[in-house]
Amino acid sequence: MKKIIVALALVAGILEAQTAKTILIFGGKTGYIGQKLAHLFSEQGHNVVCATSRLENREEVNLEILATQPDRIINAAGITGRPNIDWCETHKQETIRANILGALNLADFAYVYNIHLTYIGTGCIYEYDEKHPMAGGIGFTEEEAPNFNGSFYSQGKIALEKFQTSYPNILNLRIKMPISKELDKGFIGKITKYKKLVNIPNSMSILEDILPLVVDMSLRELTGIFNMVNPGTLSHNQVLDLYKKYINPQFTYENFTLEEQAKILIARRANAELSANKLLSLYPNIPSAHNSLEALLKKIASQAAEKKLTTQTLL
Ligand SMILES: NC(=O)c1ccc[n+]([C@@H]2O[C@H](COP(=O)([O-])OP(=O)(O)OC[C@H]3O[C@@H](n4cnc5c(N)ncnc54)[C@H](OP(=O)(O)O)[C@@H]3O)[C@@H](O)[C@H]2O)c1
Repeated sequence: MKKIIVALALVAGILEAQTAKTILIFGGKTGYIGQKLAHLFSEQGHNVVCATSRLENREEVNLEILATQPDRIINAAGITGRPNIDWCETHKQETIRANILGALNLADFAYVYNIHLTYIGTGCIYEYDEKHPMAGGIGFTEEEAPNFNGSFYSQGKIALEKFQTSYPNILNLRIKMPISKELDKGFIGKITKYKKLVNIPNSMSILEDILPLVVDMSLRELTGIFNMVNPGTLSHNQVLDLYKKYINPQFTYENFTLEEQAKILIARRANAELSANKLLSLYPNIPSAHNSLEALLKKIASQAAEKKLTTQTLL
């Protein structure tokens, strides 16, 4: 009898995991990462609802959750600054309203209604230090306290992460310098537009590897903090050299020093390697950032060749 009950419970668990879920995604309508997540959940047959309420509007958020009755909530919404995070230095109240008050509204409702929430946060909350020197191969782990205080955007993310860890139903995921096949977006989109750039190794998130894991982790209702980066690092020049090799041979770039960069920025930028070990313990086959980026760019180039397009047409 006991064996039958255990078997039935297992089958029920498997069926529950396979049933289509309703996923409410903040940032799913217009966000770079949110739209990609919406697509991935839909591809797996889940019922995706892209939120229309603004995070800071508590009543709207509450009504939208009640109307949708989601099985999972994803928060891929927030202010990232336009054209970049320097914007947050001069718009502190707007940044606090969306990225802290808004995110906490959602966290609070998810807790009250007992719904699992996945938060898409940032890994840009660490910078190289004596214990984690540049190119030293020692990444910051999830247990180590963030040490980067150089931008208002990052300060807000650190504060939020601290509050969110008090909620037992939240999965806090740290994306860093995202790269995907949409080469005009994310890290490549940014650095190909710069006149001059620094050359520093960083952990990066190749979204084609990382976002399917986000979907799986949400469905499994995992909680806690994870560095969502590929193992290893890529420097700005390594990224651009691969870009030149496969996508745009005419592309040229010029480096400058961190001191020279500081003169044109309002806020400092967080350069660091994050440890991918916690993520690798669950998903051991994540390719290195370098191998993954090279394979992605090679694929884009060969798809362009097949369609007899120049890689330029893809940009
Ligand atoms: N892209 C990066 O380089 C990067 C790196 C690491 C981490 N992240 C993190 O990943 C998350 C998503 O980033 P992303 O690159 O996808 O950003 P994104 O393309 O700028 O999209 C942000 C999304 O958030 C929505 N949004 C902004 N303020 C909102 C509010 N108050 N209420 C409701 N929705 C709001 C926007 O909707 P509207 O269009 O309607 O305003 C948009 O859909 C952010 O938390 C970001 O910090 C991004």
